[in-house]
Amino acid sequence: MHDVKANGASIPAIGLGTWTLKGDECVDLVEHALKNGYRHLDTAASYGNEVEVGEGLRGSGVDRDQVFVTTKVWWTDIAPGDFERSAEASLTRLGLDRLDLLLVHWPNPKVPLEGTIRSLNAMREQGITRHIGVSNFPTKLLAEAIRLSDAPLVANQVENHPYLDQSKVYEACRKADIAMVAYSPLYRGGELLEEQAIRTAAEQHGKTPGQIVLRWQVQQDGVVAIPRTSRKERLAENIGIFDFTLSEEEMSDISALRNANRRIANYDFSPEWDSA
Ligand SMILES: NC(=O)c1ccc[n+]([C@@H]2O[C@H](COP(=O)([O-])OP(=O)(O)OC[C@H]3O[C@@H](n4cnc5c(N)ncnc54)[C@H](OP(=O)(O)O)[C@@H]3O)[C@@H](O)[C@H]2O)c1
Repeated sequence: MHDVKANGASIPAIGLGTWTLKGDECVDLVEHALKNGYRHLDTAASYGNEVEVGEGLRGSGVDRDQVFVTTKVWWTDIAPGDFERSAEASLTRLGLDRLDLLLVHWPNPKVPLEGTIRSLNAMREQGITRHIGVSNFPTKLLAEAIRLSDAPLVANQVENHPYLDQSKVYEACRKADIAMVAYSPLYRGGELLEEQAIRTAAEQHGKTPGQIVLRWQVQQDGVVAIPRTSRKERLAENIGIFDFTLSEEEMSDISALRNANRRIANYDFSPEWDSA
């Protein structure tokens, strides 16, 4: 697996998404993932599983320093004061000395960004986290966050898969040396994996449709993907993508699916997204 370099951070190109994983199942999957080569875990205060993620990490026997751990502050907690309390509580629940990456989970239109970014920077200065970043920030808000931040942002975690045109956010991230971390990278494993462009590439390379989509993700400069699975047998599948290369034609055939312009994560608190 390669690491994506972004403003001084080195982020393993595939991470384990842990949203919806709970209790012993979560501990077990995290442990199994790390024993099988994963070196990047994605959680959030709102997932309610930080205790289990930390337990899985310790149970794996993999050296803490070898693993990149990300957590996030939920959008209702991003005002100064609340933000610090949330980040510190996450660190305690995870049972770690320091996070690798702390993200603002979503922007909040009722909370001025300036205070949030100040708190985010304070968490880095105090050693709570090595790196800082944002999530669900369209280009305008991203530019504002970059301008307000003393330390460089290393990631913008956004929904990204072949059904969604994220080229504007991607270009903005590239220009600022920020990694674009793709969430819902498999479009949750549904009909996307039936698409002809993906099935044809899968047959050509002797890989599964899921592996083709994940390869498409990480074969783009500066893109990291964090697929989730609740099945142990799929953990190996989802990192078994570093022994083949998609041709330029295969990459562009898959990228052409973006015309569908389908977004999964759209809530009443979502910001105004970039147009395609
Ligand atoms: N920042 C944010 O606002 C935000 C929002 C959403 C998600 N996230 C993060 O991103 C992670 C991933 O996103 P996601 O959970 O929404 O979607 P996803 O990773 O695209 O899809 C997960 C679904 O795909 C299935 N799957 C996994 N590997 C597969 C494969 N190789 N072939 C076929 N199906 C497969 C899984 O089923 P099985 O369990 O049966 O394998 C699961 O139902 C989350 O866990 C979370 O950490 C962040």
